[in-house]
Amino acid sequence: MELKKHLQPHAVLIPLPLQGHINPFTHLAMKLASKGFTITFVGTESTHQQMAKSQSLKDDGNPFSHAQKSGLDIRYAKISDGFPLSFDRRANVRQFVEGLSHVFQAHVDDFLENLVLSKQNPPISCIIADSFHVWGSMIAKKYNLVNVSFWTEPATVLTVLYHMDLLKSNGHFGCHGKHEDTIRYIPGIQAIQPEDLPSYCQDADPSSSKYVFKCIEDAQKADFVIGNTVQELESSTISILQEQQPFYAIGPILPTNFTKSTISTNLLPASDYTDWLNTKQDGTVLYISFGSLANLSKQDILEIAQGILISKVSFIWVLRHNILVSGERDILPLGFEEETADRGLVVPWCSQLAVLSHPSVGGFLTHCGWNSVLESIWCEVPMICFPVTSDQLTNRKLVVDDWRIGVNLRTGRLIRREGVAENIGKIMSRSNEMKKNVEKTRMIVQNELSDEGSSEKNLNQFIEDMKNKILQKN
Ligand code: UDX
Repeated sequence: MELKKHLQPHAVLIPLPLQGHINPFTHLAMKLASKGFTITFVGTESTHQQMAKSQSLKDDGNPFSHAQKSGLDIRYAKISDGFPLSFDRRANVRQFVEGLSHVFQAHVDDFLENLVLSKQNPPISCIIADSFHVWGSMIAKKYNLVNVSFWTEPATVLTVLYHMDLLKSNGHFGCHGKHEDTIRYIPGIQAIQPEDLPSYCQDADPSSSKYVFKCIEDAQKADFVIGNTVQELESSTISILQEQQPFYAIGPILPTNFTKSTISTNLLPASDYTDWLNTKQDGTVLYISFGSLANLSKQDILEIAQGILISKVSFIWVLRHNILVSGERDILPLGFEEETADRGLVVPWCSQLAVLSHPSVGGFLTHCGWNSVLESIWCEVPMICFPVTSDQLTNRKLVVDDWRIGVNLRTGRLIRREGVAENIGKIMSRSNEMKKNVEKTRMIVQNELSDEGSSEKNLNQFIEDMKNKILQKN
């Protein structure tokens, strides 16, 4: 009986409380629960309040209530992130994330202590913390839990960050475009341009990257790292990572029932615009979104808008949110919305999966957030890439240079309206190479998710290895 109890893993999942992390964590929770795990999912009071508000959630804002009714053992808890509820986390993201490393850690510690004392059935055996938390190893050690770090970005980015010492000794760290020679010394990465390094490595001011480096240092101490990526897409990088630490590529972690998921993770009210999309011909609509955090410059937004006008493309543009973050309201050219009223929508937020998977959508102008890239591949939509910061710079390299499923918006430092229009034309043309490539990439990904595919096998292997580790600990 005791043995059985221990064999059913009970994992505590703690995402970074930002949209791009909550999404993969939520779907991971569902995946593991459907494989027999008991899950305690830890949200924050703030994300809870935002979700409840944006989705008018019943059942006290519990996003998993439907899953629980269908028999999955997912328990949902919310704790304070240490900031007042009124604090604007998206507009002050750097301050927020850095603050999390101090006060949030104390709340997590307190929460786990109570969870342990409350003698959960089955007992908690493992913590799956976002690799962007700095305290996973400390907490795991304190409560004798298996320490799993969940890396929500591509393996290439993790590999670069694991080899910061090499970047430093070769003068590529913090070089911010000063060295243009190709980097060929990072194990597992054949070649990468300095401008494609994650922004944390390019930043001339190392203090801005300090937090990320602490996270990476901590992730290196984890018993296991699971990654939201696909072995076939980053095979040589992943092989080298695996020499260093048990790393399992188990992605893409997407909702099981892709468009009609019973779980909504949106922190902002979202519409799906299906009725509007239904009025458009297949493959004719460009979807434009820069994710949950990106701050675009006024000039960039203006050039994109002018490019849209020149191209005459139909579009859905998720923009209001980015404008609110940047604090600028009247950012579009005068008369833009009136002029495009018959063919375009400028919206605050949408159900991205419903939009991307609609047959009318033929291209995605994206900031290359990793979730957006994976979702675009899954929906077979080629991309126009406009990376802004962090991993997005490296993700662009994967999309455009390695997999050839997208084009660059930017040539050089500036974007120009004519270039925007030209790239829109390229990506929206039906016979373009990128469209064929993205269809092939989707096939690869789909195969890897099947029973015999690497993602499924890696997930099963991870579960087995974890169960063994749990037994060793008891
Ligand atoms: C950031 C980083 O950019 C990303 O690379 C990292 O992995 C997580 O943190 P974010 O900028 O928000 O994420 O972008 P992205 O990773 O693309 O995640 C955004 C998520 O929000 C996606 O899952 C997307 O489907 C969803 N979304 C976006 C919506 O549901 N509606 C929208 O209108 C826009």
